[in-house]
Amino acid sequence: MDHFLYRDGALFAEDIPVADIAAAVGTPFYVYSTATLLRHFRLFDEALEGLDHLVCYAMKASSNQAILKTLAQAGAGMDVVSGGEYRRARAAGVPGEKIVFSGVGKTAAEVQLALEGGIRQFNVESEPEMQVINDTALAMGVVAPITIRVNPDVDAKTHAKIATGKSENKFGIPISRARDVYALAATLPGLEVIGIDVHIGSQLTELEPFEAAYVKVAELTEQLRADGHSIRRLDLGGGLGIPYARDNQAPPLPMDYGAMIKRTLGHLGCEIEIEPGRLIAGNAGLMVSEVIYVKSGEDRDFLIIDGAMNDLIRPAMYEAYHDIVPVIEPAPGVEPATYDIVGPVCETGDTFARQRQMPPVAAGDLVAFRSAGAYGAVMSSEYNSRPLIPEVLVNEDQFAVIRRRPTFDEMINRDSLPSWL
Ligand code: LLP
Repeated sequence: MDHFLYRDGALFAEDIPVADIAAAVGTPFYVYSTATLLRHFRLFDEALEGLDHLVCYAMKASSNQAILKTLAQAGAGMDVVSGGEYRRARAAGVPGEKIVFSGVGKTAAEVQLALEGGIRQFNVESEPEMQVINDTALAMGVVAPITIRVNPDVDAKTHAKIATGKSENKFGIPISRARDVYALAATLPGLEVIGIDVHIGSQLTELEPFEAAYVKVAELTEQLRADGHSIRRLDLGGGLGIPYARDNQAPPLPMDYGAMIKRTLGHLGCEIEIEPGRLIAGNAGLMVSEVIYVKSGEDRDFLIIDGAMNDLIRPAMYEAYHDIVPVIEPAPGVEPATYDIVGPVCETGDTFARQRQMPPVAAGDLVAFRSAGAYGAVMSSEYNSRPLIPEVLVNEDQFAVIRRRPTFDEMINRDSLPSWL
């Protein structure tokens, strides 16, 4: 459920007409709903009720300071994957003890930054990385809390570019070698082993792959405890999918996911962490764009809009489907039109949808991409010298620009000329 609904013939973001925001900030832009963000965070929090737990929002999904602060104030921790994300989380007021650090390539500088500012745990992805964390901690005279990310060799049944839990993926340590790696960790005085981490992929639409992975984690927990390790925290990653197309079967609900976690892992008495990103932010955001032209091709009509692949890369990169709706509510019973919906960028990949049926629109009309709140703005670029588009946050009947559109001069003046030019 989200808070972008038609009311009085027009699309609203909570209590604000989307067209009013467009008039204020220009198109294209992203708009997020506070109520939807909070609702999704709370669904996870409630799903884990009864377990000692922390929901660490995977901020890679959408990392604007205003979004982080909204979630942090509701009690969320953060899952970060770079020094930049760590800094953003701290700047939004998230205390170090609520930040977990994931990612396969943490540098010594990033480890040092997190040890100085405070960290809940590092999720270690390899032996060389473990050594770097140990050495950095020892040099600073501190002990680094770690889990080790295991790769359970489970098929997440999602797009290949976002599956992470098969043995051929770069992530984690093969679960078959986990006991040896935990034994090694126990010999390193700069580390305190506190648990196990697993994350098998993103946009999962079934619970079975999660369950298969978590059953393996439960077995490993018992084995590692028998080996003498204190396993008291399980980080279960993120990955629960969202319904992108409304006619598709909906992915499992957080409540069912939580019940499965309790069933497979509840008996271990561990603290549970999860790292959802997409389900919290995805349906909490729209990308709004204006139709520039309707162009008649030989055998099809093209809807040429002012948003492009640089603003929302998901369709070009993952063949992702986003529902695209007119901002003016279509009249009941109107015959749909069929369009190829494209941006102005000079490559064929700048296509959002092919042969998409939607209510007819005309030049100057606004259209909204649904489910654009996760992996939207954060993955945008200035390709074709198109300045990054603004982000707006709505809260009931208020809205605020939370990242403004840079001017063309700002974009150009980031370049500097060498002395010989
Ligand atoms: N934890 C770890 C270690 C991750 O790598 C990820 C996502 C998450 C949590 C959050 O997963 P989520 O709950 O959002 O599924 N750009 C792609 C998605 C990449 C996901 C990367 N890792 C897309 O637009 O579909």
